[in-house]
Amino acid sequence: MSSQIDHLLDETRRFAPPAEFAADAVATAELYEEAQADREAFWADQARRLLHWHTPFTEVLDWTTPPFAKWFADGELNIAYNCLDRHVEGGHGDRIALLWEGEQGDDRRVTYAELTDEVKRLANVLTDLGVGEGDRVAIYMPMIPEAIAAMLAVVRIGAIHSVVFGGFSADSLRFRIDDAGAKVVITADGGYRKGKVSPLKPAVDLALADRNGSGAQETVEKVLVVKRGGNDVEWTHGRDIWWHDVVPQASSVHEAQAFGAENPLFILYTSGTTGKPKGILHTSGGYLTQAAFTNQVVHDIHPASDVYWCTADIGWITGHTYVTYGPLANGATQVIYEGTPDTPHPGRWWEIVQKYGVTVLYTAPTAIRSFMKIGRSVPKQFDLSSLRLLGSVGEPINPEAWMWYRKIIGGKTAPIVDTWWQTETGAIMISALPGVTETKPGSAQVPLPGISVDVVDEDGQHVGNGNGGLLVVTEPWPSMLRGIWGDPERFKETYWDKFASQGYYFAGDGARLDDDGDVWLLGRVDDVMNVSGHRLSTTEIESSLVGNEAVAEAAVVGASDETTGQAVVAFVIIKESYLKEHSAEGLAQGLRSWVGEQIGPIARPRDVYIVGELPKTRSGKIMRRLLRDVAEGREVGDTTTLADTAVMSVISAQVK
Ligand code: PRX
Repeated sequence: MSSQIDHLLDETRRFAPPAEFAADAVATAELYEEAQADREAFWADQARRLLHWHTPFTEVLDWTTPPFAKWFADGELNIAYNCLDRHVEGGHGDRIALLWEGEQGDDRRVTYAELTDEVKRLANVLTDLGVGEGDRVAIYMPMIPEAIAAMLAVVRIGAIHSVVFGGFSADSLRFRIDDAGAKVVITADGGYRKGKVSPLKPAVDLALADRNGSGAQETVEKVLVVKRGGNDVEWTHGRDIWWHDVVPQASSVHEAQAFGAENPLFILYTSGTTGKPKGILHTSGGYLTQAAFTNQVVHDIHPASDVYWCTADIGWITGHTYVTYGPLANGATQVIYEGTPDTPHPGRWWEIVQKYGVTVLYTAPTAIRSFMKIGRSVPKQFDLSSLRLLGSVGEPINPEAWMWYRKIIGGKTAPIVDTWWQTETGAIMISALPGVTETKPGSAQVPLPGISVDVVDEDGQHVGNGNGGLLVVTEPWPSMLRGIWGDPERFKETYWDKFASQGYYFAGDGARLDDDGDVWLLGRVDDVMNVSGHRLSTTEIESSLVGNEAVAEAAVVGASDETTGQAVVAFVIIKESYLKEHSAEGLAQGLRSWVGEQIGPIARPRDVYIVGELPKTRSGKIMRRLLRDVAEGREVGDTTTLADTAVMSVISAQVK
C-alpha cells in the first residue's frame, strides 16, 4: 500500500475534458448542484426521467429502519418492460440491442423487437414450468444472447435470478443453488472459451447429483438447456428440457405485470471474509434508476449513435448492471463477446472494436495490463478511431496502465473514467463525469451526484485531505444492497456495525484523499483479495485447501501481481505421511488443480509454498501480513507479536 501512496503523491498529470466531447456530453456540472440542493428530489427526478412507472411513486426514501432502506416503495414497475417493450413501443424496435460475437467469429445481431419477443416467449415458458413471483432461478450460461434473455424473462415475471459465473465449478454452483433454493436452472450444453468448448451442463448435473449427506433439500425441478457448444450431454428425462424445444414454440404474447419497486430482482454471490459466499440481494426500482443513470452519464450513452461495449461477463455485477440492465434500460446498442481476449489471436478485442465501430469501451485494469505486456504493436494493427470514451472498473488502475490505455487505445484524446463500486453498491459510486471532470491518472476521484462518501479513521472521523483511511458511504443510495439472502444479521455485521454510531456503510476498502479531496483507492483492508477484478476470499480458498486430504493447515494471501492486480499465494503444511510419498512439486501442482476444481480456475493459486509452520500470534491467529511480505519478496516486517519469532526466517528460507 505504501508504494501506491508514494506513487499518487507524485502524480501531477491532469487532463481537461476535450471541448468537442464536453459540447455533446450527457453529464453536466449542474448535476452536482441539483443533487447537492436536494439529494432525494434529485434521485426522484432521475427515477421519473429514466424509467417507466406503471404506478408512480409518491415516497422517495424510507430510512426509518436502517440499514434496511426502501426506495420509491409505493411505486410499481416492470424491469423487463423498461429494458425492452417500451423501446419497441417507442418506435425503436429495429434498433440493435445486441451485437453478439462468438469466440469463433460467428455473429448475431439482435434487435430490441427480437429480444423482446424472445423474452416474452421465455416468460411464458417459465410460467408454464411453475415459476412465479419470488421464486429463484439459477442462470449458469456462456455470454450468448439467451443469457441476457434469461435474466430479463425471470425478472419479467417477478421471479429472482441468481447468475452463477460459468467459470465456477460444480461445487460452487451447488452452494449457490442450495443457498437460494433455486427452482429452475437455465444453462447451456457448453460455450466457447480459449478455442474449446467449455462444458456447462455436466457441471449442473454434478451440482444436482449425489446430494445425500449434503444436507440440502433438492429444490430444482427443471433444467432448461440452450444448445451452444454442441458437446455431448447426459439427459435426465422429466427434468431437462432443451430451450429450442420449448421457447420458439411458446406464445410471444406476454403482458408485463407491474411489481413493487422493492420487489427482489436478483441475488448475486460474492466472496466475503468467511468461507461462505454472501448472496447479495438487490431490488428493483432503485437499482434500475441508478443503473440507468450511471450508464447514461458515466458512459455518456447516446443511444442512437453509440456502440457500447462492456467486456464483463454476466456472472459478475458489472455484467448485471452494465451489460443487462443499464444499457438496455437506456435503449443502447451494445457488443457482447463470448470468448477470451486472446483467442484465436492476441488482437481479438481490437478486431471487435474495429468490426463494430465501438465508441465506448468499459473494461478492467487487468485486461489493460495484459495488453500492455504484449505491446502496442497488436492494437496498432486495428482501426480504433471510433473509440471516444474509455472506462475502467474492478480494481485500482495504476497511472502507467491509465496512460497506456489513453494513448494506445484512446488515441490520446478519449477521456478515461475510473469507476469505483461493488457488488453491494449495485452501480457506480465514485467516478469522474466525462466531459465535466478534469481527470487524474490513477484516481477514481469524486462521488457521483447524489452519492456521499468519506474517508474516515477507525473511529469514523473524517481524515482530511492528504490522509488515508477507510472508505465509507455516508448516505443511503438507490441501488444499495437490501441485504444478504437469508442472513440479515450478517448483513448488519459486515457492513454497518463498524460505524454504527455514524450510520455509515463500510465498504472494506482503504482509500486516501489527495490535496484536492479526490479519492484514491488503495485496495481491500479485510481478508478479501482482488484477482483480475474478481473478489476472492482468503478463507474460502483456505477451506478448500484444508479439504484436501494431504493438507494439515493452510494460509492464503493476496500478493501484488503485475498483471492481475493481486494473485493467490498459498502456504500449506502437508501431513507427514504425504510428504514422504510425494514430491513437493507434485503436491503443489496437485493443490493448484484441486482449488481450481473446487472453486473455479480463477481461484487457482499462482504459487503454493509447502512450509513446516505458519506464523501465529499467541492467541493462534495467523499473521497473513508477514506471509504477504514473503510472497511479495519483501523483507519481513515486525514479528514481535509472534508466538515463535523464529518461524518467519524458517518460512523465508523454505520459500527461497
Ligand atoms: O476493492 C474494490 C475493488 O473491487 C471491490 C468490489 O469487487 P466486486 O464486488 O467484485 O465488484 C467489482 C466490480 C464493481 C471493491 O471493494 N474495486 C472496484 N472498482 C474499483 C476498485 N478498486 C479501485 N478502483 C476501482 N475503480
